[in-house]
Amino acid sequence: MNKIILAVGFCIAGVLLIAFLLIKSQGGLSGDPGAFASMDGPAIFGRSCARCHGKLGEGIPNLTPPLRGRNIPLAHIKKQIQKGSLKMPALPFIRGKALDRLARHVAGLK
Ligand code: HEC
Repeated sequence: MNKIILAVGFCIAGVLLIAFLLIKSQGGLSGDPGAFASMDGPAIFGRSCARCHGKLGEGIPNLTPPLRGRNIPLAHIKKQIQKGSLKMPALPFIRGKALDRLARHVAGLK
């Protein structure tokens, strides 16, 4: 009897661990604004944008537009991050100075 309880306990712990790891691996698409406070533009880009737009902002064919070499206006970049669009999720937890740093980095991608 005790063995069954123990086995069930391990199963529950395993499921919780997997759920936790899955949530952790989503990191960057959700977040505490404080986590971005100490990160520079490239670091935030790497964490929250690169998975979809490529490490260098080169875009992924048929999936995301390239961001580099386009001189995208700062205001447009910020709005896109804050509001999202049809196919891009909003990332409103990136804001304030972190948003400024990120937008300047994206605008300057060559
Ligand atoms: C889940 C994937 C995904 C993530 C993460 C993501 N984007 Fe996007 N992004 C897209 C898609 C898809 C589009 C095309 C928008 C559309 O057609 O609705 C887009 C469009 C854009 C545009 C508009 C480009 C244009 O041509 O007008 C900008 C700017 C942008 N993203 C910046 C960012 C930044 C900066 C980040 C990180 C904070 C980011 N994106 C994170 C998927 C993503």
